Amino acid sequence: TSVIGMMMIAAYLCGSVSSAVIVSKLFRLPDPRLHGSGNPGATNVLRLGGTTPAVLVLVFDVLKGTIPVWGSYFLGIEAFYLGMIAICACLGHIYPVFFGFQGGKAVATAFGTMMPIGLDLAGLLVATWIILVGATGYSSFAAVVTVSLAPIFTWFIKPLYTIPVSMLSILIIFRHRQNILRLWQGKESKVWDKTKKPE
Ligand code: G3P
Repeated sequence: TSVIGMMMIAAYLCGSVSSAVIVSKLFRLPDPRLHGSGNPGATNVLRLGGTTPAVLVLVFDVLKGTIPVWGSYFLGIEAFYLGMIAICACLGHIYPVFFGFQGGKAVATAFGTMMPIGLDLAGLLVATWIILVGATGYSSFAAVVTVSLAPIFTWFIKPLYTIPVSMLSILIIFRHRQNILRLWQGKESKVWDKTKKPE
């Protein structure tokens, strides 16, 4: 149990490293917390700075989820607790201790935590998200629908992880409640809209 606790703390600290803020500083871009949608994530860095910084943010945010979960898996920690460790990584991203507890929406980090479940699941999730962004232009809509489908995909691929994945999905959907409201009101900005200010 002390190993599980330590991995939960380590995951939270990993998640707390806000790569959107760091990468934006390195590339001398506007602070993603103050511009665009106001969200420190790959989508908003794409709006504010283009593809290269956005891809870097995406990769680092995914790894923040993958590394602690994968490490824990190799330490022999069982499925339910791997789910808890995954949630800690996402909570770090959402409420980062190093950045005044003002973080992002944990889509990339949650995906990173699910990746060790299997490349088949990861592929399905990526394909779903890409198709939905391509069809609608809304990163948030694609994320909410993809995480809603994630527990169903998991049920068919590795049923053992259905409950942990469902818990992650609920957290991500909850974190998108402002986006869901904006989508409903037709005010959400698309990935290629560069100038929209936060509501
Ligand atoms: O990755 C977060 C995405 O789902 C929404 O981002 O910047 O459009 O609020 P944003």
